Amino acid sequence: MTSAAAGSRTVHARAPGKINVFFKVGSLLEDGYHDVASAYQAVSLYEDVYATAADDFSVTFGGPIDTSGLLTDGSNLAIKAARMLARKTGFRGGVALRIDKNVPIAGGMGGGSADAAATLLACDALWRTEVPREELLALAARLGSDVPFALVGGTAIGTGRGDQLSPALAKGTFQWVLALAEFGMSTPDVYSELDRHRARHARDIFPASPQPTVDTNVLQALRAGDAQMLAEVLHNDLQAPALHLAPGLGAVLELGEENGALAGIISGSGPTVAFLAPDLDGALELQIALSAARLNVLRVTGPVHGARLLQEH
Ligand code: C5P
Repeated sequence: MTSAAAGSRTVHARAPGKINVFFKVGSLLEDGYHDVASAYQAVSLYEDVYATAADDFSVTFGGPIDTSGLLTDGSNLAIKAARMLARKTGFRGGVALRIDKNVPIAGGMGGGSADAAATLLACDALWRTEVPREELLALAARLGSDVPFALVGGTAIGTGRGDQLSPALAKGTFQWVLALAEFGMSTPDVYSELDRHRARHARDIFPASPQPTVDTNVLQALRAGDAQMLAEVLHNDLQAPALHLAPGLGAVLELGEENGALAGIISGSGPTVAFLAPDLDGALELQIALSAARLNVLRVTGPVHGARLLQEH
C-alpha cells in the first residue's frame, strides 16, 4: 500500500522535553563527541506530532512558540527521522508532519529530539511498519544523542553520547520553574567552549575523566523523591561554558535562588534555566516572582512518560 492509498488517516504522537539534573562531560574524543554521564528527567512540556499519509516528506510547525526561524527542508530532524524509518522498512510513501511545539527551540531541553522521537512513533504507526522497540531506539540514537531518551522518558541514566540508557528508580514528582531565554544556543558551540576552557586551564584543573559517571548521591536523591537532596547535587559541566557565552544568564540564576528556588541549573547546553522548587506552592511563588521581573517562565513537573501515541483522528 502506498501512503496515498492509506487515505487521510492522521496519527498523533507526543514526546516530552527534558532536564539533565546531572551532566558530566568527558574529554573530547576523536569523533568530535564526548562521553557523558547524564541523569535525564522528562518534564511536562511536550511536542505534539501529527502524521498524515502523503507521497513525499514535509513538515509544518504550530503551537505557542515562534517557529518562523525553523528550517522545514531535509535538514529538519523530524524529516530525517521519517526518512530514516522509511529507508529502514522499505516503505515507499512519505508523510506530511505537523508539529505543535511547546519545548523552547535551541533551549537545551531536547525539543528537536522530542520531535524526532514522536515522528518515529507516529510514522511507524501510520505506515504500520511495526519496527521493534530496540530497533526504534537504535534509529533514535543515529538521529541524535538525546533522541533515545525522548522515546523512553521518565528518569534515566545516559552514558556514551548520552544515548546508552539505563532506567533509574525515581519516586514522586519534582516541581520545576523554567526561565526561557529570548535566544537559542548551539550545542556544538557550548561543547567547544568547554573544550577551549579546559585547554586554557589544563595546568590548574584536573583533566576530565574520559568516562564520567553519575554520582551515587544523585541516584539516591531521585530514588528518595527528595527535592532538597536533589537540589544539593544538581550539576552540569556545560553550565560554565554556557554562562561564558551568555553571561546574562548568571543574573537569572541569582534571581531564582533569591526567590525561593532550592537551586537553579542551566538545562543541557542552555540557555533555558531550570529552577527546582521545594513544592507546588514554592513553584507558584517563584513563577510569580520571575514573571514580575519580566522573565518568560513556565512551570513544569517531572518525571513524565516518554513518547507515546495518542488517539487517532
Ligand atoms: O548528538 P547530537 O546531534 O545532538 O550532537 C550535537 C553536537 O553536540 C555534536 O555534533 C557534538 O558537537 C556535540 N556533542 C558532543 N558529545 C555528546 C553529544 C553531543 O560533543 N555526547
